[in-house]
Amino acid sequence: MIDIHSHLLPGIDDGSENWEESLRMARSAVQSGTTEVVITHHILDNTEYKLEAEILNKYAEMKQRLEEAGVPLVLHLAAEIYYQPDMELDHRISTFNNNGRYFLVEFPMQGIPRGVDEKFFDLILNGKTPIIAHPERNFGILKNPDRAYDFVQRGALLQMNAASLEGRYGEGVKALAIALLKSRLIHFIGSDGHNDHRRPMRIGQVYNTIRELWGERTAQLMFYEHPRKALLGEEIKAPEPLPVEPVQKRSLLSPFNLLRKLVSKGA
Ligand SMILES: [Fe+2]
Repeated sequence: MIDIHSHLLPGIDDGSENWEESLRMARSAVQSGTTEVVITHHILDNTEYKLEAEILNKYAEMKQRLEEAGVPLVLHLAAEIYYQPDMELDHRISTFNNNGRYFLVEFPMQGIPRGVDEKFFDLILNGKTPIIAHPERNFGILKNPDRAYDFVQRGALLQMNAASLEGRYGEGVKALAIALLKSRLIHFIGSDGHNDHRRPMRIGQVYNTIRELWGERTAQLMFYEHPRKALLGEEIKAPEPLPVEPVQKRSLLSPFNLLRKLVSKGA
């Protein structure tokens, strides 16, 4: 399996704290069936590209340490770019393996930024494909799941966190994750792994769940074929999406409950 979202390198952001933890995360990923992982540290604004040199150095060192420790995990590099109208996408870590095409973009959890549709339209016209990180955790999409459908219809792709389907961000997020999967709106599953305890780098169980519920072919697309194409910068022909069904009981969707859950779980 290929995991396209992780915070594996130590001391860069709120991910791994030291080399020992990074190695434990990598071992745990391999145990759960992951063979390749994309390292995607937060880039919160353009000034954070100053971290690029450190990320590149630690990326090389991590590869070496995995080899020395005999951990069979192949690494790739990108970033999790916090959406800004002026976000820069021409740095070495901006796109997957610097292929100039696919990039992972995160919205503020509270909602969908103003102007993002126009910005994505321009980017897509210019050959860039946004992969929206964990839309099932975004309050704007929780309130109005058809926004996810609109993004995909216009050429963006969506990455769900494995933990969302496991219910680790609460029932509201889990219900939305299921609704998005049913509507064929999820193209990738990522661990969004930050550490070796609360937010591990494991996606194996969710692979099994998706295979059981939606079949082997769907699981293969999300865990192998789409990630491989995103890494190679090749065209991804996503399945035709369906409009999203109403999500769930109203109580779970009350703004207060959702905000409380989102805030208590952190970003
Ligand atoms: Fe992340």
